[in-house]
Amino acid sequence: MPAPTTLRHFDPPRDQAAVAGLWTSVFGANSIHRDPEFAVHQQRAVDAELFFVAESESVVVGTVLAGFAADRGWIYSLAVRANQRRRGIGRGLLLRAERALASRGCETASLQVAQGESGTVQFYEKTGYHPTPLGTMSRRLAGY
Ligand SMILES: CC(C)(COP(=O)(O)OP(=O)(O)OC[C@H]1O[C@@H](n2cnc3c(N)ncnc32)[C@H](O)[C@@H]1OP(=O)(O)O)[C@@H](O)C(=O)NCCC(=O)NCCS
Repeated sequence: MPAPTTLRHFDPPRDQAAVAGLWTSVFGANSIHRDPEFAVHQQRAVDAELFFVAESESVVVGTVLAGFAADRGWIYSLAVRANQRRRGIGRGLLLRAERALASRGCETASLQVAQGESGTVQFYEKTGYHPTPLGTMSRRLAGY
């Protein structure tokens, strides 16, 4: 019987190192989380109320962040520790983030999935997401 999992707001500074470690193990070095300490710090500064963690036996096993502009919400950094997957933790975290966005007036929740991540796509399809015809455009801001 797996240990129970609780979902709660990110609690700095208690969670900072644990979240950074989780992001390193889940996302590796080739992502926007390559400096997880910085990423955690940045998100705290934006809206700590939209930063949730899953905890099991006093260990942080999952995260999700949300953000929004007007009525459009975004989901970021959904991560569940590898040995805790397929227990509903990802779905639960996503739901918390979606409800937080809805309560702030957001009408949509969107996210990006790396190409080739078919398991992640299946997860999002199971949780109600579908592809859109919109592509992403991006540039680096180094030098500003
Ligand atoms: C994607 C991720 C968050 C899913 O977390 P999880 O806790 O395992 O997901 P859940 O247990 O809540 O699964 C919800 C549903 O999705 C399905 N699902 C989850 N992972 C799946 C996979 N890899 N392939 C197919 N289906 C999957 C589950 O079977 C479940 O379906 P059900 O409700 O019919 O039983 C987790 O695998 C992860 O952290 N992946 C690496 C990071 C990542 O890709 N994050 C997303 C960034 S865009």
